[in-house]
Amino acid sequence: MQNTYQCVYSQNMNPESQNVLDYPGENTIFLVWNFKKDQNVGAVFERICALVININNSNEIRFPHSATSCVMGIGYDAWHRLGLPVPLPKELENFMPIAGAKHTAVATRGDLHFHIKGATSSICYDMAAALAQILDPVAVSVEEVHGFRYWDGRSILGFVDGTENPEGEKRAFFGLIGDDDPAYKGGSYLFVQKYIHDLKAFKALPVEEQEKVFGRYKENDVEMSDEVKPSNSHSALANVGDDLKVLRDNMPFGNMSNNEMGTYFIAYASTFSTVKKMLDAMFIGSPAGNYDRLLDFSTAKTGSLFFVPTASFLKNVASGASAPEVVASAPVVVGVGDGSLSIGSLKKEAGYE
Ligand code: HEM
Repeated sequence: MQNTYQCVYSQNMNPESQNVLDYPGENTIFLVWNFKKDQNVGAVFERICALVININNSNEIRFPHSATSCVMGIGYDAWHRLGLPVPLPKELENFMPIAGAKHTAVATRGDLHFHIKGATSSICYDMAAALAQILDPVAVSVEEVHGFRYWDGRSILGFVDGTENPEGEKRAFFGLIGDDDPAYKGGSYLFVQKYIHDLKAFKALPVEEQEKVFGRYKENDVEMSDEVKPSNSHSALANVGDDLKVLRDNMPFGNMSNNEMGTYFIAYASTFSTVKKMLDAMFIGSPAGNYDRLLDFSTAKTGSLFFVPTASFLKNVASGASAPEVVASAPVVVGVGDGSLSIGSLKKEAGYE
């Protein structure tokens, strides 16, 4: 769809973010929906934005302090198809595969991503069902993973997952876009991969060897010292610097009937380039060839980048606001090439009318 929004900047200092800073919950459903061809998707998108706002408001009343929420991310192609504002968030692009000598981070299509969290699986199910009811006529569900907290926060491989995540105020610093992209301040980059593990092969390793894969001790979750930690361990390669962190919200999943035991890797970040550095180190290796040994037991089946706009952005789309209000609620509009601001109604541009 032709997009006429251009160069819209905002001075809104504190847009309301979606719930990307919470810690992992007990139950999660991850969903990827792709729009069908030749469908007018604008009206449905508007309703979905309204629904996401509605269910999050309702969750706050019904399940306070339980980290029950639904976060929506939008892929690059969908952003264009929906006629959302340009310029885009600075680092929003289609994720491209990263091919190492032995393992590849595949890229798969994703238009909308939903990260549903709840204290009970009932509320997660209800949120997923409500979304499906609206999306079903114009989109297909291409991924649905039901993740669960495994014991004391362990991945299905038996190691505690999430220990080195940023804490407290650092979460907003590493998880949310700041002043370097003012129009999208408070938003976040969301990167997801569905990994299937060769659990049989991993379990066949003696515990001391499993520990070398992660660079941490299994039972007590203590990190190995630099002298002992192998350079191809996961924690050696995924750690790309103290000032380059992301918020990981991984969840294990398991299905006995098809022997699919895995990790849904999910990271929120203020910059996608940080995630990319981690992936390069893991798949290509650092130095090249010294790849992450975890990948010998883990195959990435999906890989997609999304942008998580602020809740204010979703509210504005839901209300059919014009482009300046869509990117933020106190905008300053900077002129564009032909001198005209080229700003129309989002509803009209996105084909809602
Ligand atoms: C196969 C799927 C994966 C599993 C099962 C997994 C599991 C783990 C575990 C158990 C740890 C150690 C404890 C901790 O969380 O700090 C860890 C650390 C970490 N992982 Fe992963 N991970 C996976 C994929 C990834 C990917 C794809 C990335 C990045 C794109 C990543 C980034 C990190 C980072 C940054 C750390 C902390 C490193 C440090 O500072 O010590 N992980 N992961």
